[in-house]
Amino acid sequence: MIKDSANKQSKLAINGGKPVCTTKWLAWPTFDNAERKQLLGVLESGEWWYGGKVRQFEAKFAAFQTARFGVSCTNGTAAIEMGLRGLGVLPGDEVIVPPYTFIATAAAVVTVGAIPIFADILPGTLCIDPDDVERKLTPRTKAIIPVHVGGYVADMDRLNKIARKHKLRVLEDAAHSWGTQWQGWGTGTLGRCGTFSFQVTKNITAGEGGILVTNDEALADLCRSYSHCGRRKGSAWYDHDYLGSNLRMTEFQAAVLLAQLGRLEKQTLKRQASAQILDRELQDVPGIRLLTPEPRMNRRSYHMYIFRIEEQTLGVSRDRFLEALVAEGVPASKGWYQPLYGNGVFRNANQGPANGISAPFFGRGVDYTKVHCPVCEQVCRDAVWIPQNVLLADKNTIRLVAQAIQKVVARAGQLH
Ligand SMILES: Cc1ncc(COP(=O)(O)O)c(C=O)c1O
Repeated sequence: MIKDSANKQSKLAINGGKPVCTTKWLAWPTFDNAERKQLLGVLESGEWWYGGKVRQFEAKFAAFQTARFGVSCTNGTAAIEMGLRGLGVLPGDEVIVPPYTFIATAAAVVTVGAIPIFADILPGTLCIDPDDVERKLTPRTKAIIPVHVGGYVADMDRLNKIARKHKLRVLEDAAHSWGTQWQGWGTGTLGRCGTFSFQVTKNITAGEGGILVTNDEALADLCRSYSHCGRRKGSAWYDHDYLGSNLRMTEFQAAVLLAQLGRLEKQTLKRQASAQILDRELQDVPGIRLLTPEPRMNRRSYHMYIFRIEEQTLGVSRDRFLEALVAEGVPASKGWYQPLYGNGVFRNANQGPANGISAPFFGRGVDYTKVHCPVCEQVCRDAVWIPQNVLLADKNTIRLVAQAIQKVVARAGQLH
């Protein structure tokens, strides 16, 4: 049922009507005196480098994700690289990744010399499809990287079963899922390890930053070593037993993240409550497809609220739908509009910067132009993303967001 009474007579804003939402959305990133105090504390302490704040943040964030260990680093991309090295992924190994994700998930695989193999996603979750993972296995498969898109958890029960059977490592790309839990356990603890991003758009941010969490102490030590110039736990300062890099987080970043972590729980619950309102208001709207409810996911972080539109039912393209929705005052976007393998780095893999990617799966050398993941390709054409800061608005405003969507659906015929 389309509840559009408030706007029954009105024209779409894109056609000169009155917009449904005139809200000024919460600016992101957000901060208050907690960040000011933390930052000043670091500044005045003189301890700017790899000290008490970093350690405190690592311990607190790991505990927040129900993990035993946290290894911080410069960003979420570096965290994936660190995790892959820690898991022993070597040049020539194949790593199965979804194509519906940010470039970092696959680029990190290439950076460690391994080969990304794309498995399709599920239409109701937008996360990697375990059946397609099984189809893409070869004797060279070493690892799987499920991505918890927008905080929605990939089917970790199925993926872990496949991993156990074929002796594969599972690294969760949990870049969007701070606070998300699956059957009571935080993301990052569901596979061997998980990685998070604190880049500026993220629900908890220091402008940049990343962390890997795990329950495996030996893995945490290896990752620490990699991030800390190859030093081993307890080794002398200029002893470098492993090949490492410098991926250390600064005290300033950790200070800001500690302040942000202080409000994350409350904000997570608020975003979740807003998403529940949207789900309720949109569940019966023709032409709108919501994600599948997942009872094993007992808490979800919502980096964005995603729904899909049925272009045929609405008689309008997703991009035109979005123009109308934005005009109604909802800052929605199309998100990832192409599968990762559609990017030049993969399409031109034999000439471009990823020159040298080769895998037996594709015969002689990789030809990513031949890869097709039809579900992902469709989702790239029909998904709508509403960013996380919108979900922090009050209940009435969230209802207006739903009304704006309902209004565009009801008047899609005016969008030609
Ligand atoms: C799914 C996913 N993985 C990894 C990353 C990489 O994180 P960062 O930007 O901190 O390097 C991002 C960043 O947006 C992401 O969305």
